[in-house]
Amino acid sequence: MAMADLHDRWVAERRNEHYYKLAKKLNYRSRASFKLIQIDNRFGIFKEGDAVVDLGACPGGWLQVAKERTWPNGRVIGVDLRYIKPLEGVETIIGDITEDSTMAELLERFGGEADVVLSDMAPNIAGHYCMDHARSIDLCMYAVNVCDRILKKGGKLVMKVFMGDMFPSLQRALEKRFQSVKVHSPDASRPTSSEVYVICKGFRGASVKLEDLGETEKKPEFSAKGGFI
Ligand SMILES: C[S@@+](CC[C@H](N)C(=O)[O-])C[C@H]1O[C@@H](n2cnc3c(N)ncnc32)[C@H](O)[C@@H]1O
Repeated sequence: MAMADLHDRWVAERRNEHYYKLAKKLNYRSRASFKLIQIDNRFGIFKEGDAVVDLGACPGGWLQVAKERTWPNGRVIGVDLRYIKPLEGVETIIGDITEDSTMAELLERFGGEADVVLSDMAPNIAGHYCMDHARSIDLCMYAVNVCDRILKKGGKLVMKVFMGDMFPSLQRALEKRFQSVKVHSPDASRPTSSEVYVICKGFRGASVKLEDLGETEKKPEFSAKGGFI
């Protein structure tokens, strides 16, 4: 390995260790908390009283930040495949957001409009770059689908994506829906990672409104897998 690569790796490891220790010290459940803190400090995502939906929320680092920054009147709900240890003042749903039943539960429990949708969802890393990228894009499109169903006009989306050649189609889908779409890599992200965060503001308005669901509002049947660009 070249000297420059060794140096970069050393810097990355020190940085990871720094955020790991800081998370422990400040009682955050994951280093990921600092990514959201840095994003919020720079882009102004949260307001007191906001309703926030966090997709891929386990173990709960982002939930803690969202709760702190929308306190005292905010509402925060997290969804994950994995069990999230209870956090005071935060609601959780265990489920796969690609399943209609999870989307139905989210709508039923949330029962309103969100100011902010967050998605830090990541696929199980196969170690195969193209496959990991494609799965990440797929999860992002489900997050976009959630926005279409519950995000308020003017609302915001912060979403992780593994960069790659399918990114432009995701970007087009986002630009159709939001007035501003920015790609950002927070300092707390590993410099070697292909992950970036897309910060979207000014949601233009839902393509599917809750009231349009009418009779089926309680247990809607979604065709989330049918493609939604
Ligand atoms: C990087 S972790 C999130 C860390 C979290 N933001 C925090 O601060 O603690 C990514 C999460 O996405 C979840 N995930 C992946 N695919 C999902 C899906 N289809 N539905 C719900 N959650 C999913 C994983 O279970 C994993 O817990």
